[in-house]
Amino acid sequence: MSNGSLLTIILAAGKGTRMRSSLPKVLHPIGGRPMIQYVLETTASLQPEGVALIVNASQESVVLSAREIIPGLIPVIQEQQLGTAHAVLSARSFIENFKGIILVLFGDTPLVRQETLLEILNRFNSPSRPAAVILGMQLDDPKMYGRIVTSQDNQVEAIIEHKEANEEIRKIKLCNAGVMALDGNYAIKLLEKITPQVSNQERYLTDIVAIARTEGLKVEVVVAQDPSEFEGINTRQDLAEIEAKIQKRWRNIALEKGVTMIAPETVYLSHDTQISSDVIIHPYVNLGPKTVIEENVTIRSFTDIEGAHIKKGATVGPFARLRPKTILEEGVKIGNFVEIKNSTLGIKTKVNHLSYIGDAVIGEKTNIGAGTITCNYDGFNKWKTNIGSYVSIGANSSLVAPLKIGDYAYIGAGSTITKDVASKSLAVARAQVKEIEKGAVALQKRKSTQTHEKDIA
Ligand code: UD1
Ligand code: MG
Repeated sequence: MSNGSLLTIILAAGKGTRMRSSLPKVLHPIGGRPMIQYVLETTASLQPEGVALIVNASQESVVLSAREIIPGLIPVIQEQQLGTAHAVLSARSFIENFKGIILVLFGDTPLVRQETLLEILNRFNSPSRPAAVILGMQLDDPKMYGRIVTSQDNQVEAIIEHKEANEEIRKIKLCNAGVMALDGNYAIKLLEKITPQVSNQERYLTDIVAIARTEGLKVEVVVAQDPSEFEGINTRQDLAEIEAKIQKRWRNIALEKGVTMIAPETVYLSHDTQISSDVIIHPYVNLGPKTVIEENVTIRSFTDIEGAHIKKGATVGPFARLRPKTILEEGVKIGNFVEIKNSTLGIKTKVNHLSYIGDAVIGEKTNIGAGTITCNYDGFNKWKTNIGSYVSIGANSSLVAPLKIGDYAYIGAGSTITKDVASKSLAVARAQVKEIEKGAVALQKRKSTQTHEKDIA
């Protein structure tokens, strides 16, 4: 930006009562992450000199979440929520003596794009030299949004809040999207002139427009192409709608990159999902945060994945669950009703049915039989299971960790393995079969007499 530096102020101190939640509104997740993180990430991409996050006194958790995106972020506590201008002024120490541009954003408007913000900032380079630039949107149904009043020569004259607007003003369809940028040379002076509303004692940031005009300063409006970018979240209904929109955005990006989704509307992605081309995703798949899927992977229906890295040509599901720190090397096959956690499976290893693999490292081309369980937890600690390459684990085996099974080892079905098995060994740990000739007949006789006696009794 040729205008020099940028300061962003993010307002998030509102109580969000309409969410009916004990969780602060801006921490409700969208696409697998708290909503506040979206606007922070967009902000960070503009490389501002400073970021002030306005929170209320009980929002320590919001600050911690924000620091995941901007580590050094210093919060500003707004003790009482006395309106958006009051909120901005609570960052007075940031604003005073700041001569760059001050960009005000809302924490509950996650879809705002960097491009739109750049367009606003660029207006300060125009010869008209505005003191403020606001963002407008044309809405057929302006709901409760503030209305932007313009003069005949297209100057922005004022923003009138819906609550304060008369019938004439309410007919205006150009609405205030909420994003505002101020020239730091005038900001403090203008903000201080905003007086509380008679109706609710709130100081409205939007009043700054009319004040700037009386001071002979200019205000411009950038009209947004896609109003849905500025939808704020106030209710759970809004949350669900925005989630649907963001999912659609991400799915379309994936489809464009060469991913096949048989029923895209049933596939859920996260903000950081990475999927390569020629991946096939069957209906009803949920991809939680930190998931990487490489080329030619197939994910079958009803599979839930989080924090897993699935390498080329692997297949997963149906009905599989991959939990954090799972790494599937190339060509691995994970079948139905299999859960894997914190484990690495080597090239072409198979776990095809009904298994739990946790805290394990498995080599290449090993076959884990149906119903195998790594017993990784003794009620106190988690233990590792180490299985080599070319191993065959028989069905219904319990592998009690800590445990090492060497390459080419063979575990008999139904074994409970409690000590290490050397490479190339065969291990069987189960009771011997005892066969009693004609025993079934004797048993049947005994049972039927017992039943008879019972009946008589
Ligand atoms: C605001 C605008 C309105 C615009 C709409 C767009 C004002 C007065 N009105 O109305 O013109 O059409 O956004 O969505 O600005 N906040 C604080 N401290 C406060 C009050 C609010 O931090 O004391 C925060 C809220 O947490 C929220 C943001 O400021 O993130 C906006 O406040 P909100 O009450 O939602 O304003 P709206 O009534 O939506
Ligand atoms: Mg709002």
